[in-house]
Amino acid sequence: MSTAEDLPVLGAPVDRVDGPLKVTGQAPYPSDVDLPGQAHAALVQSTIAAGRITDLDTTEAEKAPGVLAVLTHHTVPRLPRGPMTSLGVSPPAPLQDDRIRHHGQHVALVVAESREQATAAARLVRVEYAPADPVLDFDDPRAVSVDDPWGLDSHRGDVDAGLASADVTVDAVYTTPDNTNNPLGLFSTLAAWEGERLTVYDATQWPAMVRETLAEVFGVPEVSVRVLSPFLGGGFGAGLRAWPHVILAVQAARDVGRPVKLVLTRPQMFTSVGHRPKGVQRVRLGATADATLVAIEHHSTSLLAVEDDDYEPFAAGSAVAYACPHVVTADRQVRANVPAPVSMRAPAHAQGNFALESAMDELACALDVDPLELRLRNHADVHPALGLPWSSNALRECYAVGAERFGWSRRPARPRSRRDGHWLVGQGMAGVSYPWYQAPSLARVTVTADGGATVASSGMDIGTGTYTVLTQLCAHLLGLPLEQVRSDLGDSDLPEAPQAGGSGLTSALGSAVADACERLLGALLELVRDDPESPLHGSDPEDVVAAGGGLRRRGDPGRGETYAAILARHGRPQLGADGASTPAQPTELGMALAGAFGAHFAEVRVDEDLGLVRVSRVTTVIDGGRILNEKTARSQVIGGVIGGIGMAVFEDTITDPTTGRIANATFGDYLVPVHADVPDLDVTFVGEPDRASALGVKGVGEVGLVGVAAAIANAVHHATGVRVRSLPITLDALL
Ligand code: MOS
Repeated sequence: MSTAEDLPVLGAPVDRVDGPLKVTGQAPYPSDVDLPGQAHAALVQSTIAAGRITDLDTTEAEKAPGVLAVLTHHTVPRLPRGPMTSLGVSPPAPLQDDRIRHHGQHVALVVAESREQATAAARLVRVEYAPADPVLDFDDPRAVSVDDPWGLDSHRGDVDAGLASADVTVDAVYTTPDNTNNPLGLFSTLAAWEGERLTVYDATQWPAMVRETLAEVFGVPEVSVRVLSPFLGGGFGAGLRAWPHVILAVQAARDVGRPVKLVLTRPQMFTSVGHRPKGVQRVRLGATADATLVAIEHHSTSLLAVEDDDYEPFAAGSAVAYACPHVVTADRQVRANVPAPVSMRAPAHAQGNFALESAMDELACALDVDPLELRLRNHADVHPALGLPWSSNALRECYAVGAERFGWSRRPARPRSRRDGHWLVGQGMAGVSYPWYQAPSLARVTVTADGGATVASSGMDIGTGTYTVLTQLCAHLLGLPLEQVRSDLGDSDLPEAPQAGGSGLTSALGSAVADACERLLGALLELVRDDPESPLHGSDPEDVVAAGGGLRRRGDPGRGETYAAILARHGRPQLGADGASTPAQPTELGMALAGAFGAHFAEVRVDEDLGLVRVSRVTTVIDGGRILNEKTARSQVIGGVIGGIGMAVFEDTITDPTTGRIANATFGDYLVPVHADVPDLDVTFVGEPDRASALGVKGVGEVGLVGVAAAIANAVHHATGVRVRSLPITLDALL
């Protein structure tokens, strides 16, 4: 039978199968969905960062036109906190007490006939506070800190001895600010109860997790909760939680006995659905005069909410990035009165890589070697901690191909040696080793009487191409044209899949789909083998392939029959099979699990008089294992690089140091790259299918972002001679 060994259809740059739905406005994004009889909700949020509510007067709001209910901590029943998810976090339930933990915390929810009425009435809710002095930064002596929150700190060799033996050392501190995920689509929840059955349309990257959370919080069986998220207007990690506003919308729907729809405003998106937390990192590197790394020490401190955990081990990646005998990595989190951070595309690695790869550039300067040469000399040929061969690793090829495409060899060694008029021109690079997140997944594949097939999964398409690659995969494995395969995704009633996050869904869900296809073909083969009316009666399974919309004799495509014919003769409207995938255990196989690798080469132009930074070129080469669709994968990496440009030179969520209020919570004030800021991006894939994945896929959702900030910062140094260790790189640092 056909197997995943031979996948010529895959990798083809097929257009998005959901593209027509999207461009014609027919794809139901979360805030587009409406239900008959729905009411609308609007949030009231705290205007202080710490303290207590002393009085909450809803009288005026309740009398306002169209108002159906006002939920406060006086009305909302005591709700349990949701279960710990596989990311180890669950936000506290909302409106449980009078305590204020951060500016922008939800303090009330107004439900009315229309969104406008709810919004108007929300302004009439009067809240009196007893403010306390908020903890807002690392250096506050009252701040509670947690060392090694995830047990990922690492020690290898003797880093002090390593540093002492070094001929050249670098010791530098790097800071990265809060960044906000800012998906274009406003997050929205539409909740409807029918008795104990709950249906929720939510802007989530993880329908199965939201279902599990809501079942636990509202005390109903999981089977009576259905969460739908077929389309999402971006997420970048913001959709990896069942946030407090989701729980409030569900509670409101229960209270008013009608469907309730809550759409966050853009400013509310800054405080309600997470952000990349700011951090301080100190990196010490030591090398011998021949540019051999002998010590890496990487410490980070990042900011965390008071009562909401977040997984963000900035330094951990530095333990496996290079061959180096003496390594210490250590992470610490400090709790403050800030909105909850959450994963934002390449959580921890985006920040950690900026520090490490900037320090590597500083080391190259100190050693007077080429930055690329320094990386090649210290390449981790085997996994540096485990000593095992990688399941796949084309990082050297990323460097070689990238350097060639970019023209790295023509880069002058000295900083500040190229100019074009008043523009100083510089080039920098960075390497990326990204981990591979694995989770179990289920999927169902069904052939139907019309001869086509359907893929079904609770996994969702964050916008990056899951519909398309699963459709390609199924079409290929069943020998069907693309048009005859449909993927139904983003519905928690369908077989459970992990989150669209951690760059892990394509491998996990794709492997489950491949398993389902194999089982389905096995079941179809059983039907025809024992059927005297089938042209394949008595066939040896080895001689049968899936092709031409059915089963065919290998090498004799005229002999066989379509799925439609098989089902019709057996009187079946459809035949389905469930598939599963489980994370590989590569160390048992004598290899180390490799995630994606990459290299970025950036060119910047810096206005000598004004300090303006323009990114003029980026060349990116990625080893993502098997690429299922060259076009959607490339788009994903391009999006990642653009996110990296934002991180490098624009994005900065600014919190007022006195009040804890976010000062730039709008798209007018929070800068992101727009078209004029993004040059043509050159993206190339290299590498082989990974040995530890059934499909050979490693995932490319996040790797494209990581390393861009360092490559740009290194290019800025090369252009100007100024080392900027604090993101974003704004003109004040260059004047
Ligand atoms: Mo991502 S930060 O895994 O959505």
